[in-house]
Amino acid sequence: MKAVVYERYEPPDALRLTDVDKPVPRDGEVLVKVSAVSLNASDWETLRGKPLYSRIGGPFRPRHHILGSDIAGRVESAGRNATLFRPGDEVFADILSRMGGFAEYVCVPENSLARLPAGMSYEEAAALPQAGAIALQGIQDKGQVRPGQEVLINGAGGGSGMYAVQLAKLHGAEVTAVDNAEKLEFMRSLGADHVIDYTREDFARNGRNYDVILDLAAHRSAWAYKRSLRPGGRYLYVGGSVATLLQVLLIGPLLGRADARKVRLLAVRLGVHHLDPIVELCRAGKIATFIDRRYPLTEVPEALRYLGEGHARGKVLVIVG
Ligand SMILES: NC(=O)c1ccc[n+]([C@@H]2O[C@H](COP(=O)([O-])OP(=O)(O)OC[C@H]3O[C@@H](n4cnc5c(N)ncnc54)[C@H](OP(=O)(O)O)[C@@H]3O)[C@@H](O)[C@H]2O)c1
Repeated sequence: MKAVVYERYEPPDALRLTDVDKPVPRDGEVLVKVSAVSLNASDWETLRGKPLYSRIGGPFRPRHHILGSDIAGRVESAGRNATLFRPGDEVFADILSRMGGFAEYVCVPENSLARLPAGMSYEEAAALPQAGAIALQGIQDKGQVRPGQEVLINGAGGGSGMYAVQLAKLHGAEVTAVDNAEKLEFMRSLGADHVIDYTREDFARNGRNYDVILDLAAHRSAWAYKRSLRPGGRYLYVGGSVATLLQVLLIGPLLGRADARKVRLLAVRLGVHHLDPIVELCRAGKIATFIDRRYPLTEVPEALRYLGEGHARGKVLVIVG
């Protein structure tokens, strides 16, 4: 089969489209013929090995040689003891822990798969897993956003931000969305009440405070985030620099004890089985998936560069079959 492989942490030009053996499903796995796979910041980070946390499991060389984690496609065959799906079933999955989506076929443990929701396309299903889980858990489960609250989403023009802005608006919040100048109009179109171009204004120094900050691109100190919270507010680190991550983990629990401001890591529970509430909102037309660009498998390097260089609004997809 065709697959896009890499051997070392490196820039996208070194990715190769090549022939590799078609995988054979093992016990409890099914073989999926990939139709669409969406790109996540985690693909870009794991390609380059930056930030350092992206090297977990492979400090010097990548542990997995085919990237791509949010897939949708059709079941081709099932391994031993895989009884939940049959050939022809339409499915989607988040396979971040093993990757392998930038290929014509991938083996997936059947308990990581879900059926394609009725009325949902392969493209929308491939867009949802990681970005939808981050938005759902950041805004609803851990953010506990309530009507009238002020919510700031940093990095709001990308995949997770696209869902998070819409979800926060559905929860009745006043939303400030932060990203680069290219994405301001896009964030307004998602429903953001206020937008900030991070290259011109630092939201942590503009004197405003928020009830919830969901941070998809964290680079400041934990103290700066605490200062931007209202009493009782919560800051959630999702992705960003390792220095900020360490501060959030080590100092976060001590900060704001007196006034109950919380500075915490959002450890996202990944997997399509946690997605039901956001899948329902998408199916009901209350949340839209914006797909900025679609690329063929032959152009995965271009797709990754487009995402990594910060142009992508919403999701970027690779259409495989
Ligand atoms: N905590 C967990 O359990 C967990 C699980 C899965 C993924 N993650 C992480 O979640 C993060 C978010 O992923 P995503 O898929 O939403 O990424 P994405 O689609 O790339 O979106 C991130 C957005 O942040 C913007 N950005 C970059 N630097 C910024 C800055 N200094 N200030 C404000 N915005 C900035 C980017 O635009 P520009 O680059 O153009 O500026 C981009 O629009 C990733 O870092 C990933 O590793 C965390």
